[in-house]
Order: sequence, then C-alpha cells, then structure tokens
Amino acid sequence: MLNFLKDIKIVCLDEVDSTNEYLKRNLPDKRLTVVRAHHQTAGKGRNGNVWVSEPYANVMFSLGVVLDASMGKDLFYMSKLTSVAVVETLRKKNVDAFVKWPNDVWVKNRKIAGILIENIFMQHKTICCIVGIGLNVNQCDFGGFDATSIKLETGITSDTDEVFYSLLENWGLWLENMMRKNWEGMDEVYHNYLPAKCGEEILLNIGGKVQRGVFDRVDRNGYLCVKMEGAMKRFDMDEAKWIPERVKM
Ligand code: BTN
Repeated sequence: MLNFLKDIKIVCLDEVDSTNEYLKRNLPDKRLTVVRAHHQTAGKGRNGNVWVSEPYANVMFSLGVVLDASMGKDLFYMSKLTSVAVVETLRKKNVDAFVKWPNDVWVKNRKIAGILIENIFMQHKTICCIVGIGLNVNQCDFGGFDATSIKLETGITSDTDEVFYSLLENWGLWLENMMRKNWEGMDEVYHNYLPAKCGEEILLNIGGKVQRGVFDRVDRNGYLCVKMEGAMKRFDMDEAKWIPERVKM
C-alpha cells in the first residue's frame, strides 16, 4: 500500500451541501481525509459556478491533504497531479480523455470531470489543500450542457465505487510523486495529456478574441506560456482560454 494511503480517513455521505465545504467545516485531523458524497445540494465549481450532478450516478469527493507550508510555492502541482490521475483513470476505462488547461478533463469537445482546489493556511505552518473532484460516470442527460460521462463515451454502466477507488489509488500514486518533489516526472506526464506539444500552434481566446500562438509549456505556477508575435507571453486562467484543436468552434 502507498505510504500516503496508509493513514487515510474516508467519510462517505449520502447527501451534503458540498464535499469541499464539509472539509472546510471539519478540517482534517489526519494527513489525508477523503469525503465522498452521492448527492451534493450545493456543489461548487470554479469561478463561483455551481456543480450539478445527478444523485448516485457519478463520483464526487474531496481530498483534504495537510502539507507543510514550505510546499506553498509548489501548490499548482496538486492541480497537475489531480488532472493526470483523472485522465489516467479514464484511459484505463478506454475513454480518450485529455487535460484542458488548467485542470479540466475533457473528451473531444465535452467536459467529463472538473477539479476545484481550495487552500487553507492553518496553524503550525501547515496548509490544508482541499481537492474536490467531480467525475461524470453514469449520467446521460446533462440538460444541454456540453458535458459527457464514461457511460456516454463507452456505452457501459460502471460501478461508481470501483471508479472512485481506482481514481483514489491513482491519485495517491501521484501524490507520492509530489511528496518526493518529482517535478520533472509530473510535468512530463501532465504535458503529455495536454492537447498540444511544445512548439505546436494553438488557439487561444483572449478577452473574447481568438488568437494563434505557439505553445511552450504550463509553468510551475500554472501559467500558460505561449510564443506570440515573437515574444513569450504568460497567461493565467482568467486571462486566456485554450481552445483545443479537437474542439470544434
Ligand atoms: C469545475 O470544473 O468548475 C470544478 C468542479 C468541481 C466539482 C467537485 S464535486 C466534489 C467537490 N465538491 C464540490 O462542491 N465541488 C467539487
């Protein structure tokens, strides 16, 4: 068993407002606490959005990881490793998922999973990193949203427990890499799952205007580095949206 997963507390709830909020109200007393719910009444997405998910159809959980404050400068790796773990879990189920920068997981032109990371600075020089993951498993109707699920992609109904544990194990493996500060290894895999390689031309939506650039990398702080008009530019996730070429506009 992986070291990090040895000392783990798992809380399973039928219903909660949001697993991220639950963890914030009950800050972890263990190095790693996982809160899973079958139904969220007020699921949260990034940028103040809501995360709506059919009860019992999908996998929704939050991981509370207590880190030493010295890891504060490396926190974007939590985002990288989580999206990598989700992509790998999906690929094992023959779903051709990829990372849509910064940490969404898409299949073709639809979103299959979302990740919401919230960091709480605690006493004794520690940070509690709350990593919320919503993965669409058996839901088939998204009411007009551009979303998909394992079932829609493969035609197969999955056991949500099996998907949850497979993702948790994979995530634990990547967390070990973060603890070992294997930045190069994590960067390599994260970049492999992006829709373009270094040196390839990509499309960006910058303030509503579509522009071309040459992809360089996503740096250690999560900035998208792109060569445009002869200069290297860095964008944060609020400044630019990457439009993957496989996404038809
Ligand atoms: C996004 O793509 O906007 C992020 C979505 C994150 C959803 C998950 S579901 C489990 C956890 N609890 C929440 O309230 N949100 C995250």
